[in-house]
Amino acid sequence: MNKSIIFASALFFVSFAFDEVQFVKNFCEEKDSRIECRNFSFIEEDLKDFAERVFIISKATEVLINGDIKFLNEHLFEKFPDAESFELESNESVSYELRKPFERPKPIIFESRIRILIIGNSRVENLENSTSFHTLTELEIFKIALSKYKDFKTKLKIDDSLLEKNSKLKNLNIITSNIETITEGAFRNLEELETLILKNNHLSYFQPKTFQYQTNIKTLDISENLIKYLGLGSFWPSSLLVLNLSGNKVESITKNHLKNLSNLKSLDISYNAIRLLSRNAFASNTKIQTINLKNNQIDEIRAFRNLETLVDLDFSNNDVETLQGDLFSNCRSLKTLNLKNNTIRIIFSAFNPELISLDLSLNKIQYLQGFEFNGLTSLTHLDISDNVLRKMGAYIPAIKLGTFSDLESLIELRLNYNFLEIDDIFRTLLQNMGKLEKFHLNGNGEFNFEDDVFDDLVSLEYLNYER
Ligand SMILES: *[C@@H]1O[C@H](CO)[C@@H](O)[C@H](O)[C@H]1NC(C)=O
Ligand SMILES: *[C@@H]1O[C@H](CO)[C@@H](O)[C@H](O)[C@H]1NC(C)=O
Ligand SMILES: *[C@@H]1O[C@H](CO)[C@@H](O)[C@H](O)[C@H]1NC(C)=O
Ligand SMILES: *[C@@H]1O[C@H](CO)[C@@H](O)[C@H](O)[C@H]1NC(C)=O
Ligand SMILES: *[C@@H]1O[C@H](CO)[C@@H](O)[C@H](O)[C@H]1NC(C)=O
Ligand SMILES: *[C@@H]1O[C@H](CO)[C@@H](O)[C@H](O)[C@H]1NC(C)=O
Repeated sequence: MNKSIIFASALFFVSFAFDEVQFVKNFCEEKDSRIECRNFSFIEEDLKDFAERVFIISKATEVLINGDIKFLNEHLFEKFPDAESFELESNESVSYELRKPFERPKPIIFESRIRILIIGNSRVENLENSTSFHTLTELEIFKIALSKYKDFKTKLKIDDSLLEKNSKLKNLNIITSNIETITEGAFRNLEELETLILKNNHLSYFQPKTFQYQTNIKTLDISENLIKYLGLGSFWPSSLLVLNLSGNKVESITKNHLKNLSNLKSLDISYNAIRLLSRNAFASNTKIQTINLKNNQIDEIRAFRNLETLVDLDFSNNDVETLQGDLFSNCRSLKTLNLKNNTIRIIFSAFNPELISLDLSLNKIQYLQGFEFNGLTSLTHLDISDNVLRKMGAYIPAIKLGTFSDLESLIELRLNYNFLEIDDIFRTLLQNMGKLEKFHLNGNGEFNFEDDVFDDLVSLEYLNYER
């Protein structure tokens, strides 16, 4: 048998004037027992038994079909008796709605040897019911996305039986599939699970014991769902390292919500509706390194003081007005702090000296009193653009002398789009910034500088002071 004719088509709709050999040449490549068929699509024809005729047994161990897959042929897996890995991805080039009526194909017959099954963007319709995956007992990686699995078309429930037999699953990824409910026992046999991705579904809550058997889980992504309450802390598996709750409806994080997450390194809870962030919200997360709270409505920034391991905090697009009190004193690891697009008017608190990048752009800061950046000897990037820095009177400049005097590592300074005038920027203000390479001053008033104003900026490569 000519090996090059070995290929896969999961299609029912295929142009009649179709030449098998040509098809393989155009779309399939076989290399090291991996067969890849890409970029194919066909004109719809009523060719019910096409697959039967054209499928030839292949020795490939890995199969990738990337094309216009609408139905997985019921015998697809039989044609690749040695294959343990199937990636069946569509490029979404054909609009499903444009298709003519069709005869419904038979349910897919999965085979137990499959270890990796990826059915992405596939519009697959002929997965019959909640026992569809029961034969897949060896499955380790399973991704199904944007499918039209019979139940997925309406609101899908992952019930106790759907994944009952897939106990070797390590990586489960069911995105954009209209999941609305997950029963409490749905994952009870998935003790090996390390990664669970349920992004972009309609989940609004989890039953308290949903994750009780996931003692090995490291990554949980439930972004872009409808979760409003985080529930009790004991609910989260304590092995989690990464939790993504971005794009939900969460309104508050209080003391007990993230309890149990004592190993968590990364939390993304951006794009929610959080108004209340308690002082001790992260008290149990003693290993946390990254927190993303972007795009919420939090008006107080006080939950971070004792987070010694925190490296990266994104607090942009919130409603903080003042930075007051002891906010970051024990943040010995904090390197990147993003406070962009809040409503900060005035800064009365100190930043931690380890800081490398500080973004205060798009706030309402009117003047800098001199001590704001004291001790920030490691800071390389400072952005105060799009604020309202302006002279407070004839003798009171917008930026007091000494404001930048500790910033000996600064490489980039943005003061653009404020109301600065010539006498706000003077030579003594810019001393000690021998490493400054980029200085953005554009979008301010008219500057007619004395020749020596920038003399101390010996590394300067870029300077913009256009009005
Ligand atoms: C998808 O596949 C079709 C058929 O080969 C091709 O014409 C189209 O350019 C592809 N689209 C994308 C976005 O890759
Ligand atoms: C498939 O289409 C994509 C996007 O149009 C292109 O980048 C890729 O090279 C194509 N692959 C093959 C095997 O033709
Ligand atoms: C699920 O579908 C299979 C295959 O069509 C069928 O044999 C089985 O009885 C169905 N099970 C349920 C619970 O409907
Ligand atoms: C939460 O932590 C407690 C105590 O450490 C533990 O007994 C419980 O199993 C944890 N819950 C989960 C879901 O991991
Ligand atoms: C969390 O999910 C959102 C939306 O799916 C994604 O954009 C973001 O990159 C994810 N965050 C992390 C830290 O991976
Ligand atoms: C500022 O944040 C608000 C939400 O607080 C958001 O709607 C807006 O788009 C943001 N503006 C910019 C320029 O990022």
